[in-house]
Amino acid sequence: MNKLNCLIFISGGGSNLKNIIEKIDSGFLKDINIHKVITDNPSASGLKYAYEKKISTNIINEEYSYEDISMDISENNIDLIILAGFMKILPADFVNNHDGKIINLHPSLLPKHKGLDTHNRAIQSGDKTHGASVHFVTEKLDNGPVFIQGLFEIGESDTAATLEKKVHEMEYQILPIAIRWFGDKLIEKNGNNYNFRGTLEKEPIKYL
Ligand code: GRF
Repeated sequence: MNKLNCLIFISGGGSNLKNIIEKIDSGFLKDINIHKVITDNPSASGLKYAYEKKISTNIINEEYSYEDISMDISENNIDLIILAGFMKILPADFVNNHDGKIINLHPSLLPKHKGLDTHNRAIQSGDKTHGASVHFVTEKLDNGPVFIQGLFEIGESDTAATLEKKVHEMEYQILPIAIRWFGDKLIEKNGNNYNFRGTLEKEPIKYL
């Protein structure tokens, strides 16, 4: 069986990239290959996780544009594009050309708190719960179909900093599960929704 061939996009610390690499090494993601790590930020510290594993990397700039990424995708039979802490908005034509292949990790319980500063906004809104979501990417920011979420209760002593830490813990669980579903061909985008072919045990989870 061919491995699921992935591109991972990051912009900063890359702890989710690190977690995916660990899950590949531990066998939880045994049929996954990271073809390349791509960033918009040449000083993204998360690039070190790619260097350590000798995974090739590219920086998006005049010499490596979204057209070049698209060429990479078709020449290397890329199955899945994972935005794991990628802070730039993708061009609409890129998103539309790869419809159904791009997923994004977002640090809130979508549809709540699209965009930035989600942890502060959860506190300011008096939310009782917070968490993370994985969704298919569409032209509209943080708006595509959500297919897995992990949530927790916000405690009285929580601050934006503690929420960020708790959200990361959720992300380390849900993103590998999401990727595994692609590897097992359990999930696909269907318009503004998704089809899921898993068994009950593997059904999209809202409450981990
Ligand atoms: C994550 O919380 C992700 O949801 C958000 O940015 C953070 C990236 O963290 N978009 P890291 O770079 O994986 O450590």
